[in-house]
Amino acid sequence: MISKTSMKTLHKRYADMDGQIVTVAGWVRSARDSKTLAFVELFDGTVMKSCQLVITADKECFETVTRLNCGAAVIASGRVAVTPEARQPFEIVVETLEVEGASPPDYPLQKKRHTLEFMRTIPHLRPRANVFQAVFRIRSEVSFAIHDFFHRHRFIYVHTPLITGSDAEGAPMFRVTTDAEREFFGKPANLSGSGQLEAETFAQAFSGTYTFGPTFRAENSNTPRHAAEFWMIEPEMAFCDLDGDMDNIEALVKYIINHVLDNCAFELEFLNQFIDNTLIGRLKSVAGAEFERMEYTHAVGILEKVKDRFEYPVNWGVDLQSEHERYITEEICKKPVFVKNYPKDIKPYYMRLNDDGKTVASADLLVPYVGELVGASQREERHELLLARMEEAGLNAADYGWYLDLRRYGTTKHAGYGLGLERMVMYVTGMSNIRDVIPYPRTPNCMG
Ligand code: 4AD
Repeated sequence: MISKTSMKTLHKRYADMDGQIVTVAGWVRSARDSKTLAFVELFDGTVMKSCQLVITADKECFETVTRLNCGAAVIASGRVAVTPEARQPFEIVVETLEVEGASPPDYPLQKKRHTLEFMRTIPHLRPRANVFQAVFRIRSEVSFAIHDFFHRHRFIYVHTPLITGSDAEGAPMFRVTTDAEREFFGKPANLSGSGQLEAETFAQAFSGTYTFGPTFRAENSNTPRHAAEFWMIEPEMAFCDLDGDMDNIEALVKYIINHVLDNCAFELEFLNQFIDNTLIGRLKSVAGAEFERMEYTHAVGILEKVKDRFEYPVNWGVDLQSEHERYITEEICKKPVFVKNYPKDIKPYYMRLNDDGKTVASADLLVPYVGELVGASQREERHELLLARMEEAGLNAADYGWYLDLRRYGTTKHAGYGLGLERMVMYVTGMSNIRDVIPYPRTPNCMG
């Protein structure tokens, strides 16, 4: 390892480093030269900003620099010079420069702006582009903030299995086996579409727990908000009802937003300028707003009055489509809203039946521009009622003995939710396609 100064440090401390000799290592974003001077814009990914290298014609490396192409990896040493008059606050006046890895002129990421669609064809190179530097740093910060939030609230982080025989959502699953003739595990197994059921067992032992891991759904929906492989955060809380659940969700979402506002200011400014110019204003207003809470029945009442707008008709009992969800959050509430107490027939068996016998204690958090961000519910903790709902759903109760056991041995009122990481990252970056917030998106007919 060479001893080098990161660009993060340089951008933070350049004022105190004026005149110091430093070594930097990174990739060329652009290079230009004249007879007497050459300029190289270098980035190392430790911060979104790049750093300008200046090379005078008397240096041995000058010739090399005039032949540099975008994308090359270089190591340079030189003196920090604070430049208050210039566009960049400082530059590095180079003494020596070595090319660690050259790049030919056909490097796909030239200085000009490329479309996001084009970038999807080069997932191995797009992290070097500014927009993806911003998105993936924010994705990392969002992940950190989530762990931090739950750690502060004393939740146990549990790793639920990715290969499972149980089914929480009834969503289409990917089968896991080695060959078509034989079940490797002696019975059908899938890639997990939710860690919730297993997380519930931990909540009944640790009170507060959460999973945070990959989730797989073989949904054939080619939308900008669905992926076949995504990451989900699934907290589960014992001694908690739906109101407590929604309080926890609201606190988490605000915690994440505040963390990003506090730690990713430069990335947000970039995205605000190039992707969505309402982004920063929206995040600040959400961080300070109280989320709305609205009954499903009330939401349907509002939607039924809207004429000639929706593709899918609405009436009590139907599941809300994305166009309805967005109308409620974007045009009626103009902020995040929990729609709660959905009809039992459109929700999974594990949600707690309300006293009306028709609805379940569930809540979806809808947010402007993204739609559904979180699916939540209080779980059915009453053994007989859960058994009846499982049978109604066509599940073989014998396969879920362990899940039913939780209702026999010290059952508690309990609740939890699933937050889609990519949807959260879309919300805080303003990116409108899920393919642009996952390093290697997996969607139908596409493995990136
Ligand atoms: O509403 P869902 O299906 O809920 C569950 O899986 C529950 N077991 C969660 C729980 O209560 N523990 O999914 C939860 C969230 C959605 O709100 C959405 O943000 C995200 O997961 N999600 C997807 N994100 C990307 N691509 C997909 N195909 C997604 N399906 C769900």
